[in-house]
Amino acid sequence: MCGIIGVAGKTEAVPVLLDGLEKLEYRGYDSAGIAVISKEGKLQVKKSKGRLCVLRERLRDENAPDGMIGIGHTRWATHGEPNDANAHPHLGQQGKIAVVHNGIIENYMEIKKSLLRKGITFCSDTDTEVVVQLLEYYYEKCKNLMDAVYAVLGRIKGAYAMGILCCDYPGQMIAVRQDAPLLIGCGKLGSYLASDVTALLAHTRTVAYMEDGEVAVLTPDSVQFFDRDRSPIEKETHTIKWDVAAAEKGGYSHFMLKEIMEQPEAIRKTVSPRIAGGEICLEELEAAPELIKTVCKIYIVACGSAYHVGMIGKYALEKLLRLPVEACLASEFRYSEPLLDEHTLVIVISQSGETLDSMAALREAKKQGAKVLSIVNVMGSSIARESDVVLYTWAGPEIAVATTKAYTTQMVLLFMLGVYMSKQLGHMDHEEYRTLVEEFSQLPDRAAEVLKDPDEYQKAAFGYFNHNSVFFIGRNIDYALGLEGSLKLKEISYIHSESYAAGELKHGTISLIEPGTLVVALATYAPLIEKSVSNIVEVKARGADVIALSTGETADKIKGQVSQLFVVPKVHPLLQPVLGVIPLQLFAYYVALNRGCDIDKPRNLAKSVTVE
Ligand code: F6R
Repeated sequence: MCGIIGVAGKTEAVPVLLDGLEKLEYRGYDSAGIAVISKEGKLQVKKSKGRLCVLRERLRDENAPDGMIGIGHTRWATHGEPNDANAHPHLGQQGKIAVVHNGIIENYMEIKKSLLRKGITFCSDTDTEVVVQLLEYYYEKCKNLMDAVYAVLGRIKGAYAMGILCCDYPGQMIAVRQDAPLLIGCGKLGSYLASDVTALLAHTRTVAYMEDGEVAVLTPDSVQFFDRDRSPIEKETHTIKWDVAAAEKGGYSHFMLKEIMEQPEAIRKTVSPRIAGGEICLEELEAAPELIKTVCKIYIVACGSAYHVGMIGKYALEKLLRLPVEACLASEFRYSEPLLDEHTLVIVISQSGETLDSMAALREAKKQGAKVLSIVNVMGSSIARESDVVLYTWAGPEIAVATTKAYTTQMVLLFMLGVYMSKQLGHMDHEEYRTLVEEFSQLPDRAAEVLKDPDEYQKAAFGYFNHNSVFFIGRNIDYALGLEGSLKLKEISYIHSESYAAGELKHGTISLIEPGTLVVALATYAPLIEKSVSNIVEVKARGADVIALSTGETADKIKGQVSQLFVVPKVHPLLQPVLGVIPLQLFAYYVALNRGCDIDKPRNLAKSVTVE
């Protein structure tokens, strides 16, 4: 939610800021803005409602600010509608200090009232303006920027990653963090701050992750870090290995399509380094054997698509481990007083590693003594750093708001974990283990087979893109898969869609099926195929138009019953949903394309959800 970028550099700041904002735009696209300190020491601000391209155009028409130190922001609106006034950066009323902010200041109203009583006037509805006005108020009193920053940090409550400029300090930029992602980059041509590493890759690969309560002072040649008590601290730096091209579209019309097509490679990167000599090797777990041996209950906690991975994981892990497994929405888990102890393993799944609800669930789990293992894509992210054990998906940067390759690789890694644990706990017979290891190795090739002919899905989508409401139905793992298929479709095409356990339809929802209603029936789970066919027949009897998904094994039972059949290769039942989701992703993509939707940046959404 919201992306921030900052540069204290040795070259013009504007191109660096705009380039960085382009990489961060997936975090929010309600407005964009920049502030730069000019050579004369003046703060110049340009901001506009709408996409970054609107700001770019403005900068072309008007004089772009010059100067080498600047901050930028791309907004996902929380407080105040998306308009020019609410766009960041915000200035204090003297125009001396500028702030960009990602997060929410929870006590902003109380501070705003006290500043209003002091005669300070506000020009926006945002919580961020309260911070900058307070900062300027303290600064006017103490005439020392760091004193003012620490005074503000002592007053504000909530989540924030902020970049701060003050025209009396034209050679520096300040960064502060609490419960929102922020990293600092050190390059030859300057120092940088950003919400996400993709914004920095063009300038540096050496980064330091800021922790809660820390403050950084950036100049073109140096970065100094301070803790909550203002004592200087040394911070470890990390080298980022992601390649710049991985964050570009590479000839595809959308990041989403590129990321769908990248799935065979992404799965390979997840699987290959973890298989050696016919064994699954999870080195990360070798140092913590007690984590497996003592576990009595597992919670899988996540949001959105990552939660859907958890739903599939529940079916799979319960079977593999003979332990109770619950999949929980992170936003519910943290407030549901879960019963956890040192024998509970909490698996947190997150692509970004920054989702606030998942982070809060992780902290709650640790507070209660549970062990936390996370499955994360973004290296060095907050969830990864706070977990007892982290397994990285290594899927590479995912830019499209709708997740695809992160979802499949999370699922593959969760299954690998399940099989690994099952073996350690003595629940898996040797033959099945060998088959599964072999099938994990072959999975990238099987995924490539599904992607061989995307035209099939494009043609199907052309026939169905005008529907207003779509139902996904399935049983067992197919039900969990339907949740993801339905989310993919609704989030990018804006078609109303719901997913139901097929057996549950007749308990109410079937009343919504009428002639012409589109039903996507998922029928890859062979043990329940007869039951799934009965459900297809039931909706057809009410006039539904049915598309089905099956494997080579189940196709014969369904053919002839449905208007359209997508068939994926049959693999071990555990791994089947990894292939099954791909046609659903492509179908959603092409439906959205036919409807002229903004696929990579669907309305009202942002990729990294760092607010509650
Ligand atoms: C949907 C989607 C979201 C995310 C969810 C969790 O396509 O991408 O539902 O899965 O916001 O995000 P992460 O995985 O970053 O915690």
